[in-house]
Amino acid sequence: MATQKFSGPSPYKLPATYPKEDYIHTDYVNNVTLNHDVKPPKKPVVAAIFGLGRAGSIHLTSIINNSRIVLKYVVDDRTERFADLKKYWNFGNDVTLLASSDAQRVYNDKEVNVVFIGSPTWTHHDIVVNSIANNKDVFCEKPIAENIEDTKKCYEAAKSKGRVLFSAFNRRFDPSYRALKNRVRNGEVGHVQILKVTARDSPLPSIDYLKTSGGVFHDCLVHDFDMACWVLGELPCRVQASASALIPEVKAIDDFDTIAFLLTYPSGTVVLGDNSRYSAYGYDQRLEVFGNKGMIKVENERPYHSTQAYIGHEGVKESPIYYSFPSRFREGYKNELEHFLDVVTRGVPMEVTDYQTLAISKIATAAEESARTGKSVELDWSKDGIPANYS
Ligand SMILES: NC(=O)c1ccc[n+]([C@@H]2O[C@H](COP(=O)([O-])OP(=O)(O)OC[C@H]3O[C@@H](n4cnc5c(N)ncnc54)[C@H](O)[C@@H]3O)[C@@H](O)[C@H]2O)c1
Repeated sequence: MATQKFSGPSPYKLPATYPKEDYIHTDYVNNVTLNHDVKPPKKPVVAAIFGLGRAGSIHLTSIINNSRIVLKYVVDDRTERFADLKKYWNFGNDVTLLASSDAQRVYNDKEVNVVFIGSPTWTHHDIVVNSIANNKDVFCEKPIAENIEDTKKCYEAAKSKGRVLFSAFNRRFDPSYRALKNRVRNGEVGHVQILKVTARDSPLPSIDYLKTSGGVFHDCLVHDFDMACWVLGELPCRVQASASALIPEVKAIDDFDTIAFLLTYPSGTVVLGDNSRYSAYGYDQRLEVFGNKGMIKVENERPYHSTQAYIGHEGVKESPIYYSFPSRFREGYKNELEHFLDVVTRGVPMEVTDYQTLAISKIATAAEESARTGKSVELDWSKDGIPANYS
């Protein structure tokens, strides 16, 4: 009886609200209510995808499941897999599989208006430039090219043709990281004093992949640098990095597998990062911001998040964290694709801009220089055309 007085009005009389953090419910509500604001009726884009390895397979899965895209070409050099690919994905005659030596067919096909690139980094520049020259919008895996000069050429080509060139920094589209960024930008932690980012890869990539990856700073740490600058809306004035190769095969190709870095920002914020090519316990991805008003963290996510612990004589055992990027960033990959389609079909402003991508490439180059020379590198942005409002 003592609590009856708190019962309040019938729930039928209460406004039907739900927490906006439940982005999956929002998606569901949009689908149930046929919300044309989020999915205005538009003709599907006609697409080609280059490269069906680790990254390309993630994008292919999203493309096939997306009603806003009609897939017309798949380009890959492992032609011996084509028969299996056709069978597995149930491709009809409307999907053509080509080796890269026949890629001109894609460029010449006027019906194709978007190109997805998931092929190795060293192939990006040519595919981007050829696609753009033939009036196609491009979704390209990071990094856009092997070096800053080629990346600039890609963006200049896109600008001169008025085409979209999207750099797939998928972590920005992860719901948890995005929520952290929005909360930081709303001032919840005040002025950020320290941002900590941890990114430890799993599983260990093959040595063949690492040989042509462009090195760990351009292949992996670009994500960490982008996270930091995107959250803070600022670019660092000093970069320091220390790195070693503890895995003999990584040392043999003159790359690094164990990296710590420090970025110092003009506003006084300091960013601490640690990155590894190999994490034995899963894909360890964490982010923490600490400011004068508080602290926000994104911890590792787990597939069985509702079954948190097994308790036994040995103590408490939690379920494992996600094993690798396709599972941890599944939502991010889907969201970045939707964003790209919004940019291409609805003119929504692109979130990953040319100057941001170039700035991240410049930070990666400086960090590698710091790791190799043992010196800190000062960065001058005065000639880079960076708007005051970085992100
Ligand atoms: N954003 C991310 O989370 C993420 C994750 C992994 C890789 N990547 C990026 O994706 C790209 C590919 O990496 P990966 O790990 O998928 O490589 P991968 O080696 O697993 O796959 C590359 C595929 O491209 C094919 N290929 C080679 N040359 C080609 C060409 N000229 N045209 C078309 N296909 C060609 C290969 O046959 C192979 O199937 C790299 O740029 C990498 O940096 C991004």
